[in-house]
Amino acid sequence: MPPRVLFLNHSATIGGAEFCLLDIAVHLRDSALVVLLEDGPFRPRLEAAGVQVHVVKAGALHKVRRDSTLPGISVVASLWRAGRIVADIARDFDVIHANSQKALMVGSVAGMRSRTPLVWHLHDIIDPPWFSRVNIMADVMLANHCANRVLAVSQATAKAVIRHGADPSRVHVVYNGIDVSVFTRDAERAAAARQQLGLSHVPVVGCFSRLAEWKGQHILIEAAAGIPDLHVLLVGGPLFNEQAYEQRLHELVAARGMEDRVHFVGQRSDVSLLLQAVDLVVHPSTAPEPFARTLIEAMLVGKAPIASASGGVPELIESGHSGYLFPPGDAEALKTILTRLLASPDEVERAGVTARDHATRNFTMPAFVNGVTEQLQQAASSGRKHRPRPMASAVSQ
Ligand code: GLC
Repeated sequence: MPPRVLFLNHSATIGGAEFCLLDIAVHLRDSALVVLLEDGPFRPRLEAAGVQVHVVKAGALHKVRRDSTLPGISVVASLWRAGRIVADIARDFDVIHANSQKALMVGSVAGMRSRTPLVWHLHDIIDPPWFSRVNIMADVMLANHCANRVLAVSQATAKAVIRHGADPSRVHVVYNGIDVSVFTRDAERAAAARQQLGLSHVPVVGCFSRLAEWKGQHILIEAAAGIPDLHVLLVGGPLFNEQAYEQRLHELVAARGMEDRVHFVGQRSDVSLLLQAVDLVVHPSTAPEPFARTLIEAMLVGKAPIASASGGVPELIESGHSGYLFPPGDAEALKTILTRLLASPDEVERAGVTARDHATRNFTMPAFVNGVTEQLQQAASSGRKHRPRPMASAVSQ
């Protein structure tokens, strides 16, 4: 019997960590509930996939950011309140799955109060300067004292949390898997998509990511500025209040005189086709990327991605075979690779075949969902601990 899982996610905006949660929640939907700590687009997306959702608003908790220092009283109060509500719900479940950091905080309170085992799914490389010392300390303390186990999305993600003091015996790496039935090859429709964009007769490089400074779209624009005639397709929008960065990208494009060859197409639902419609795919994050699902998606449709070599990325790509790595933030190095590959279509084709094979073998959906389910099962079977009576009555008030 699969475990009854209470999934907890702070955000209702759909980013990579939410896509990952969607996959596992769909797999376990007959015995699962997703609690979101705010309402938003993720709720209908889960519901449409047959997953039960409940929203517990955690107001002030959303003020906590990666670089926050000490939390204010309103944050602690809303954390405690949400934790109590989730604890009541958790009594009907075998295990709590906390997706990312704010969910870990609420999940820790809920897990302790309801004596439900807690699994933390970690999608971040928690390192300074991207995360404050206070945040890192809180995460590690909760991981060691409240979580039964920590699922890290890559070795790099696992190493960072262990380096900051997490108990290594609790940390397990489970790579994301991508659904091959969504990322299938369709040359005809991809050509039509390219034609619709008006890019049939020019070389095109694509970047598939939300617009955020650390995703590094500016590095790609700088690299492409030095390659005459190359068009850039930016797929993705500013998701988490990142409109200022989008504005800066437009200014950079104008400053380089590239208005006619950089195309901002926003968030799209036909990513699989657009990946196939471009000649090359670049993922230029300037900060260490924990996993980068987009790289596997590109590989599955036969594109060997060009990505910055940091975080979990080198674990996903065998450089020179299934993709290409360049130093993060180095527009000049990226320009060199782009120039070479644009002149070598045979190599691009060959690497694409290798990439597809590599992704199909190593990042499958069954391996992912079974891996996570097994971890949840093991945490669940560690059992609900005996819970003293007086606390039970306090919670139900
Ligand atoms: C987060 C990470 C990203 C990863 C995703 C799924 O969004 O930033 O690298 O692909 O989670 O684990």
